[in-house]
Amino acid sequence: LDNGLLKTPPMGWMAWERFRCDIDCKDDPENCIREELFRDMANRLVEDGWKELGYEYVIIDDCWMSMQRDNQGRLQPDASRFPGGIAKLAEYVHDRGLKLGIYADMGTQTCMGFPGTTLDKIEIDAQTFASWGVDYLKFDGCNSNPVEQMLGYPLMSKALNATGRPIAYSCSWPAYVGGLPPNVNYSLLADICHLWRNYNDIQDSWDSVQNIIEWFSQNQDELQPTAGPGRWNDPDMLIIGNFGLSLEQARSQMALWAIMAAPLIMSNNLRNLDNSARAILQNKAAIGINQDPMGIQGRRLLQETSHIEVYWRPLSYSASALVFLSRRTDMPFLYHTSLAKLHYDAGNYEVFFTGKTVAGLNASTEFTVSINPSGVVMWYIYPEPSKQTDTLDHQHYKAS
Ligand code: DGJ
Repeated sequence: LDNGLLKTPPMGWMAWERFRCDIDCKDDPENCIREELFRDMANRLVEDGWKELGYEYVIIDDCWMSMQRDNQGRLQPDASRFPGGIAKLAEYVHDRGLKLGIYADMGTQTCMGFPGTTLDKIEIDAQTFASWGVDYLKFDGCNSNPVEQMLGYPLMSKALNATGRPIAYSCSWPAYVGGLPPNVNYSLLADICHLWRNYNDIQDSWDSVQNIIEWFSQNQDELQPTAGPGRWNDPDMLIIGNFGLSLEQARSQMALWAIMAAPLIMSNNLRNLDNSARAILQNKAAIGINQDPMGIQGRRLLQETSHIEVYWRPLSYSASALVFLSRRTDMPFLYHTSLAKLHYDAGNYEVFFTGKTVAGLNASTEFTVSINPSGVVMWYIYPEPSKQTDTLDHQHYKAS
């Protein structure tokens, strides 16, 4: 949706993958869905260096609502878990220079059984969210049929626009109708939504991450061209810092989400993230690649029989990113290739990776990268600079 919002993929934090529908605040006060959780995460984003890197949205997911609408038909938060109300929470988040996201469901009920937004409730819900100062809406699609979705998702887009408040609009619609044309009309989606969930929910495992990468890569001819500033494919949350990924696998998720121009929306416990997860999620080169202003989504270039895969994304200033992914499970693999084999034009290139710059790599020169099992090597690469200004343009990728 081309209205000036989300010119680059959104960055922030969302409750779902890590905290799900935990509403047991009696026995699990630290982890249940309530206003303290979101205030804590807002504080962490500001105090632990996330905000300055671009992580700005704090997004509430399912299970925030009261089971009943109020006497004017408006959604309301569960009174015991959000005693201050959403407007107060939005103010808290805004006071810290962050933005607040909320969740609703196009259908009779949310996926977890809370009040849904049927067609007749779309306008009032959009107005309620705007009146609270909400900045982002995740509009889920449980408990509705394709005909209702076809009406409801565009209607919500109009209703949000009519509020006059800039509200980023995330549509789960494609994920409910198979994710691919002809069931999904991606040019319509790009007109009405800023981002959309194409595929299955991420779970806390490398299997799940691989399954998502595979589906997006196999369908890249359909998906990749639909992305751009203000319209992003969403392969779902970053699960780095949770329980399911090794260090290598966490690096792989970050690098591939950067290549895919995916939203960088973490779902983890920022209160006790370990340093390695933090370093990966705060990697400036990966964030710089993800947030490239041209907003061209990358692609899988090659799948070798050795189970090495190469991903590529074109970037501003004639730069590009390469990610070498190993799907092997044995030991670090020495992959021999050249830039010419990866379809680069003749000439000399500079490569920036793991904090150092290597100059003078000719396109035809064979080189070797060592890739750990289920790990990646990520390169930021650009034609050998001819003038000083060229080099300066690349500095912000290297700042880490
Ligand atoms: C399905 C969505 O895809 C998830 O991200 C999450 O929002 C759940 N519904 C909540 O019920």
